[in-house]
Amino acid sequence: MRSLSELRLRVSESADLTPTVRRFVLKDPGGSVLPAHEPGAHVVITTPAGHKRSYSLVDPGGAEPREYVVCVRRNRAGRGGSASMHDDVVVGTELLVSAPVNRFRLHPSPRYLFIAGGIGITPIRAMVRRLRAEGHPDVRVLYLTQSAAETPFLQEFDGPQDTVHHSDDHGLLDLWPHLAEPDDDTRIYCCGPAPLMQAVRTLTAHWRASRIHLEQFAADHTAISLPFTAVWAPDGLRVDVPSHLSLLDALRRNGVPVESSCEAGVCGTCRLAVLAGEVEHRDSVLTDGERRSSVVACVSRAASAELVVGPRDHLRKDLP
Ligand code: FES
Repeated sequence: MRSLSELRLRVSESADLTPTVRRFVLKDPGGSVLPAHEPGAHVVITTPAGHKRSYSLVDPGGAEPREYVVCVRRNRAGRGGSASMHDDVVVGTELLVSAPVNRFRLHPSPRYLFIAGGIGITPIRAMVRRLRAEGHPDVRVLYLTQSAAETPFLQEFDGPQDTVHHSDDHGLLDLWPHLAEPDDDTRIYCCGPAPLMQAVRTLTAHWRASRIHLEQFAADHTAISLPFTAVWAPDGLRVDVPSHLSLLDALRRNGVPVESSCEAGVCGTCRLAVLAGEVEHRDSVLTDGERRSSVVACVSRAASAELVVGPRDHLRKDLP
C-alpha cells in the first residue's frame, strides 16, 4: 500500500560503480521537482519484491532537486532487499520512494573528520561534496574499504585531506592516531558497518558527545538487551521476550501475527501501539510524537519489566 508521503519515481539511470555496488537515479515521471533534501538524508524505497529499504542520498541535494541518487550494495547475506534492487530494477522501473528523512544532519563546524566504511560512504559523500563546494578549508576523510575495486567514488577522494585505506592490502586501519586528541572544534561523522561504528564510539568516549555523529540504519545489535514481558492487549497473552529475541520474533513465536519488512527499524511496518509500560526506542523511523504511543517491534524493547502492546488500531487517540 502507498502511504501519503510516498512518491512514485522512475529509474532513469542504473550503472554499476563496483562489482557489488549499483547506482540508481530516480526522477518524477512527469519531470516535477522533488521534495528538498540536505546532506545526510535518506529515503525508504519499496523494492519490486516488496521490501522496504533505507538508502542514503549520495548527492548534496538542495531546495529543488530534480532527481534522487542512491547506491545499493548487493548483500548476499541479506534478506532480499538489495538483491531485488539489483535483479528486478532496470531503467524505466517505477518505485515507491518516501520523502527524504534526515537524522544525520550536517552541523556547522570549524573542522570535520568523516569516517566512512564501505557503502557507508553514501551520506558522507553528500556532506563532503557540499562542504568542499562551499570552500570549507578543513574537511578530512578516512574512507575504509576492502579493495580499490570495491571503492565507490574512489577518484573523488584523492586530495591531500583524504585517506583511502584498503584492508585487503594493509589490514585494518588503526583509528586511534586520528581520535586520540579530543577537539571541540571538530565534528566527527561516521557511517559504516557495526564494528566500525562501535570502534569509533569506543575510541571517542573521551570526546564531547555532541561532536560525534554516527549513522545507524540497521538495528543496534551492540546495545544491551534485557529480558521483559510483553502483554498482547487484545487477549491478555503474556509473552516472555528474552535477551536474544526481538519483541517481533517473540510475539510471532507465540502466535501473534505482526507484519514486518526491513526488520532494521527504518520502515515502520512493524509499529505497534503501546498501552502501558516504558519503551527503549531503537528505531530510526518514529517521530517524537509517535514514540509517545508506539513501539517498533523489530528493534525496540521495553525499558520497564512489562510492556502492554497491541495492533496499530489500539493507538491512543488522546495523545497530543
Ligand atoms: S520491520 Fe521495518 S521497522 Fe520494523
